[in-house]
Amino acid sequence: MIFIKLYMSEESFICAVQFLIIRGKMMKKTVLYAAAFALVMGLGFSVNAMAGDKGPAEMTLQATVDAAAKPKPAMFPHAKHQETLACGECHHGKDAAGKQVAYVEGQKNEKCESCHNKAAGMDKKIATFKDAAHTRCKGCHTEKKVSTKCDTCHKK
Ligand code: HEC
Ligand code: HEC
Ligand code: HEC
Ligand code: HEC
Repeated sequence: MIFIKLYMSEESFICAVQFLIIRGKMMKKTVLYAAAFALVMGLGFSVNAMAGDKGPAEMTLQATVDAAAKPKPAMFPHAKHQETLACGECHHGKDAAGKQVAYVEGQKNEKCESCHNKAAGMDKKIATFKDAAHTRCKGCHTEKKVSTKCDTCHKK
């Protein structure tokens, strides 16, 4: 029963199947096979779900933490960027000491402003969502000769 409790929050389906397998000795063979099959399917699905989480294809980015008085949403064709760029060109993490950690395949991608906000006290060029975004987005656009005019991202 403790075993069930531990796994319930994660993947109640797999937990139930594993429980069935643990109890398998007492079950009919056919039921056991069905349970094993369901387990394999269940694992397959959860692995797919992780590998496939590319986020939305199109996004409208808007700061919420240190937002400007006059909101200025930015268009971001996420999928288009994913076609040619590695996830780690934009996504990364943070360690316990507050240092940047390189992107790890399949990691959870938090919002930029969850780390880049005034309260966190980072360098001026990455202190807010706006600053971090302008540094990263415009930095690469300049490098790759893509437009950095305001209305490329901020539609009027
Ligand atoms: C050119 C930059 C860039 C690249 C490349 C990129 N992303 Fe993103 N991604 C972003 C930005 C910006 C956001 C929005 C973050 C925010 O809201 O603060 C985002 C958000 C996400 C989210 C969260 C969406 C949500 O609902 O909050 C996921 C998941 C994600 N990206 C996965 C990926 C994966 C996987 C790859 C590689 C295949 C990738 N991204 C490549 C910039 C990028
Ligand atoms: C989990 C926390 C976290 C998230 C989420 C995060 N960052 Fe960062 N980022 C950091 C840390 C820590 C540094 C290093 C700060 C320092 O050295 O002062 C950093 C550095 C940067 C830098 C400057 C260094 C470099 O790599 O060029 C840019 C630009 C940047 N982040 C942009 C972004 C963008 C854009 C997003 C969202 C797609 C994002 N960050 C999401 C923690 C985060
Ligand atoms: C590492 C490089 C890189 C980063 C980072 C990057 N971009 Fe781009 N972006 C490109 C390239 C290259 C293109 C041109 C793609 C194409 O036309 O196929 C592009 C195109 C675009 C376009 C479409 C422009 C048009 O004329 O159709 C928009 C909008 C855009 N980016 C917004 C953003 C935003 C917002 C961010 C930051 C959240 C960002 N980009 C970060 C490389 C980058
Ligand atoms: C390559 C894309 C890109 C370009 C070009 C760009 N920005 Fe941004 N900008 C962003 C992103 C992404 C954000 C963060 C999300 C948001 O709040 O809009 C942002 C945020 C802002 C914000 C804060 C908005 C808010 O609601 O808090 C202002 C103000 C701003 N930009 C002004 C400008 C001006 C002025 C220019 C032209 C000189 C410009 N930006 C060019 C992508 C871009």
